[in-house]
Amino acid sequence: MEFHVSLDGAGDLAARIYRSLRDGVRDGRLRPGDRLPPSRELARTLNVSRGTVATAYERLSAEGFLVGRVGAGTFVAPGAAAGASRVAARTMPAGGLRPRPGWDGAPRSPGPHTAARYDFQVGVPDTRLFPYDTWRRLVAAEWRQGREPVGYAGPAGHPDLRAALARYVGYARSVRAGADDVVVTSGAQQALDLVARVLLAPGDVVAVEEPGYPPAREAFESYGARVVGVPVDGDGLVVSRLPRSARLVYVTPSHQFPLGVAMSLPRRLELLAWAGAHDAAVVEDDYDSEYRFADRPLEPLHGLGGGGRVVYVGTFSKTLLPGLRLGFAVVPPSLRDAVRTARRLADGHGPVATEAALARFMDEGLLARHIRRTAKVYAERRSLLLAGLEGGGLAPYLEVVPSAAGLHVCALLRSGDGAVVRAVAARARAAGVRAETLGRYQAAPGGPAGLVLGYGAIEAADLPAGLERLAAAFRAVTPG
Ligand SMILES: Cc1ncc(COP(=O)(O)O)c(C=O)c1O
Repeated sequence: MEFHVSLDGAGDLAARIYRSLRDGVRDGRLRPGDRLPPSRELARTLNVSRGTVATAYERLSAEGFLVGRVGAGTFVAPGAAAGASRVAARTMPAGGLRPRPGWDGAPRSPGPHTAARYDFQVGVPDTRLFPYDTWRRLVAAEWRQGREPVGYAGPAGHPDLRAALARYVGYARSVRAGADDVVVTSGAQQALDLVARVLLAPGDVVAVEEPGYPPAREAFESYGARVVGVPVDGDGLVVSRLPRSARLVYVTPSHQFPLGVAMSLPRRLELLAWAGAHDAAVVEDDYDSEYRFADRPLEPLHGLGGGGRVVYVGTFSKTLLPGLRLGFAVVPPSLRDAVRTARRLADGHGPVATEAALARFMDEGLLARHIRRTAKVYAERRSLLLAGLEGGGLAPYLEVVPSAAGLHVCALLRSGDGAVVRAVAARARAAGVRAETLGRYQAAPGGPAGLVLGYGAIEAADLPAGLERLAAAFRAVTPG
């Protein structure tokens, strides 16, 4: 690939070539050691005389930007880019384009986390448990020449993966779906985005749980929806508090994010009846129910006869890796074409070989085995965490919210407010412990204060020390 020499601007042609190359070196587009085309070649490309290019090269060499090596060619001189990044920062003009209202202002969700020694990060699995060798083998098999198509594919995802997903949700979650009802997505997040895109018009009311999952709220808001937080009690989302005009209700019934409660069966039935009476869609985000440590799983909303107005969303971000970006939605037939079109318009489709590899991973029983194996690891961590919260030095400060699934637990402050947990989290952070505050998941002030503690990233051996440091932070912030 060749550097684009621009002939724009004032001066003779040699001066313009000189300026274009000099700017390239200064702003880092041309790096020390990069080889420039021979003057004859560049002259042909630019349709100028060879002498013109030679004049520019000579001046750049005289000023230390280029060096010629006999028999090898002309190169960007070592050290010629000193200060390049400083200049690069200035190369994009300020002002100009602005995002439309709703997209300007501060970035929404927080950026990537920085790791902590004792890391109770929420929403992540243990990446060390991923079956790397098996995955490499499956992906490598897909990349053998002449196997899967490497051209464009359909927007709904690889047919083998859709079939495997339909079998999986039917078997494991009693979600009755055929391969045609499944759309493979880039994580659960894209499923939410596609659904929002096809269902919502600006000004539509969307109900979400409060506290809840910020990226879902933000996806709905980005389409101009008016998002209303609805409280959650021990039975899940309080259906009687839903705004009458809600067009879409987003819920996490298996394991409410972040509180952890499961939506009770009566509440599920009430929600479905409400959605039917108000002609609303329900998005059921079943993001981590593969890890269930007590109780029988409750029937998903989709399986309770809500299939016609429920979009069931799943993800492999917890069972496998967030970075794989693999999720899916089971959509009612009435939305199928629209959602497929939305995916096509968004990014065409997902990576074919990766989707095919996941289909094989599922078909060969490897996903089920991996979930069984990792569930044992997480079960041990979970019981250590619960024991530490309920019996150790944290018990005077925190009360665990009962839950039976997932990779995190929520614990509410027995006394005090959000300022106390923020101070505790900051103090713990200074001692090498990351603990997230419940406030991070609250859109409105005044909700209960507490901590949300993930056990995906922290190993069992580190849990006692992590919890002890957390308890020390509580003692320091709330003495006496
Ligand atoms: C409620 C909820 N939904 C979905 C996800 C997964 O999102 P994705 O599949 O886009 O990684 C998470 C991850 O933290 C989550 O907490």
